[in-house]
Amino acid sequence: MKFKIALLPFLALVVTATAYAQAKPEDLIKIRQASFRVIGWHCGKVKALLDGQYDKEQVLAAATVIQSVANAGLNPFFAPGTDKGIGFHDSKAKPEAVDPAQAAKLSEVITGFRKDANELVKVAATGDKEATRTQFGNLTRHCKSCHDDFRVQ
Ligand code: HEC
Repeated sequence: MKFKIALLPFLALVVTATAYAQAKPEDLIKIRQASFRVIGWHCGKVKALLDGQYDKEQVLAAATVIQSVANAGLNPFFAPGTDKGIGFHDSKAKPEAVDPAQAAKLSEVITGFRKDANELVKVAATGDKEATRTQFGNLTRHCKSCHDDFRVQ
């Protein structure tokens, strides 16, 4: 009996993971668009704070949001079939973004993005504005590289 009860949370997890794996393409497109919208908004905030009234805590708060979205994992939002369809608007993902043959290349960009998002939080926490600016530049290079290869212009 004890064993069965202990197993319950685990089963719930499995069921939840399966439900996510079966998410409809239009839901994945929505989450992808929403994730990048959130990332974009907070990048804009970091840039404005670096160019204007620098505030360490606000930069750190925005960087932490970007880090969280990146660490939660972007790969599942590029499931096959999610290049065409409507999320909040027509998908702008190129067919290459959801092509299993290009998955390694996409993963490489996602991994680099995540690494630099984590690094940005570390650097932002020091309060060193210029070092934060440099690391923000390292992070935003991945935006352009991924958009060039995987997003319709
Ligand atoms: C791994 C690839 C990848 C990375 C890294 C990436 N993007 Fe994107 N981004 C995309 C794709 C693909 C779309 C199109 C999504 C769609 O329409 O389904 C997109 C869409 C967007 C959008 C529009 C969201 C909407 O409203 O639909 C914004 C804003 C954006 N990205 C900003 C950024 C910024 C800023 C960065 C870097 C800090 C970044 N992206 C990094 C691939 C990426």
